[in-house]
Amino acid sequence: MKISLLNSSPRHNGNTAYATQQLTKSIEEYTTHSIESIKVCDLNVSGCTACDGCIANNGVCVIKDDTQYILDKISEADMVVFLVPVYWWSIPAQLKAVIDKFYSVQSTFKSQQKKIGVITIGANDTSDKQYSLISDQFTCISDFLGWEKIFDLSFCAYERDDLQNSQNSNCQFSSIHQYFI
Ligand SMILES: Cc1cc2nc3c(=O)[nH]c(=O)nc-3n(C[C@H](O)[C@H](O)[C@H](O)COP(=O)(O)O)c2cc1C
Repeated sequence: MKISLLNSSPRHNGNTAYATQQLTKSIEEYTTHSIESIKVCDLNVSGCTACDGCIANNGVCVIKDDTQYILDKISEADMVVFLVPVYWWSIPAQLKAVIDKFYSVQSTFKSQQKKIGVITIGANDTSDKQYSLISDQFTCISDFLGWEKIFDLSFCAYERDDLQNSQNSNCQFSSIHQYFI
């Protein structure tokens, strides 16, 4: 299985980067799946302008940026893990821009059997409504595309190394390979 990890935090060496590392380590240790890690915020993906240019262009967005690169990576993957820092009770704009571009390839994506996982990290306690709001968003997206959401985990971390220093979080990461077997 080919797994794409989409790290959607702009902060280098922060909590989302740590979660991406831990996930990579675990998948490599316990499975033979291939992994590709992509830093969404290092790409240049502009917002969808609803121009419908993609419809007349064989499902290829007409804006010349990294849209096609990231959509191709997602298309090639059997499983996509979205690693998401919470921004204003939602997902960061850079990831939203990528998801909005799913519009251009929705018929292709609908024809593909794909699994998704979601890891959400925010400063607020995991009881905060933000985690279920984000979770519901990914459920709606995967239901619409006919994909299967395999797991959805929330972590509380604020400072850059909070996740790394959390015993509870590290405990959850130590068993995360269960979702990939
Ligand atoms: C612009 C911005 C908005 C944020 N909004 C929220 C929020 O609504 N809820 C929350 O719990 N944390 C919020 N945070 C905190 C981050 O989610 C938290 O620090 C997270 O650990 C960042 O992940 P990172 O270290 O990978 O960048 C926000 C941070 C930033 C920079």
